[in-house]
Amino acid sequence: MVEPLAGAITPKATNIVWHQASVDRDAIAQKRGHSSAILWFTGLSGSGKSTLANAVNMALFEMGVSTYVLDGDNIRHGLCKDLGFSNLDREENIRRIGEVSKLFLDAGIIVLTAFVSPFRLDRDKARSLVNDGDFLEIFCAADLKTCEQRDTKGLYAKARAGEIKDFTGISSPYEEPESPELRIDTGIQDLERCVETVISKLVGLKIIDRVRVKN
Ligand code: ADX
Repeated sequence: MVEPLAGAITPKATNIVWHQASVDRDAIAQKRGHSSAILWFTGLSGSGKSTLANAVNMALFEMGVSTYVLDGDNIRHGLCKDLGFSNLDREENIRRIGEVSKLFLDAGIIVLTAFVSPFRLDRDKARSLVNDGDFLEIFCAADLKTCEQRDTKGLYAKARAGEIKDFTGISSPYEEPESPELRIDTGIQDLERCVETVISKLVGLKIIDRVRVKN
């Protein structure tokens, strides 16, 4: 049975006042010569999210762009080590990552997140934290059969054997994005082509300038 998703979090703290930063995002963008964005990679475990996010990160790094990768498996070693894989825990995982990504955006950094993020509502909530155009949902569309055949971490075999419960694609749902900014066939296309698709999108949206950042 699918657990109900928790409602909006009620703030606990009172008497808190927002402090406006003296160095804002526009000033940072001017200085660095590129804008910031959230590149939200979503897809099944083994669909190539981390591989693609890291390869895009490398390409951007070579161009002199300020970036950071937030990776599901890594973040669960620290910031989200108190969370498991129930629907509620996944919701909280993605809520935290949405908030952290927003901080990176404010810091003028292109942040690349690689989380299964299986629920549409949770992804949409992360999107709603920022302005239109700041959040690019990138669907790594390798299908279940491909991911299961790859089984790079041996987790699908364990999930099929009942050793891992609530495993996305096997015993927990994955809700495909309905209108992602990019849909990439990570099950078919080679990595270089996938990277180029993302870079071209960033250039097209004027988040980065291919010529200027390369010089
Ligand atoms: S999410 O659903 O909350 O977005 P997240 O991306 O942080 O998941 O973590 C997914 C990674 O944890 C997978 O790539 C896989 O390596 C590992 N994992 C362990 N158990 C599960 C599970 N039950 N479902 C999905 N992934 C799992």
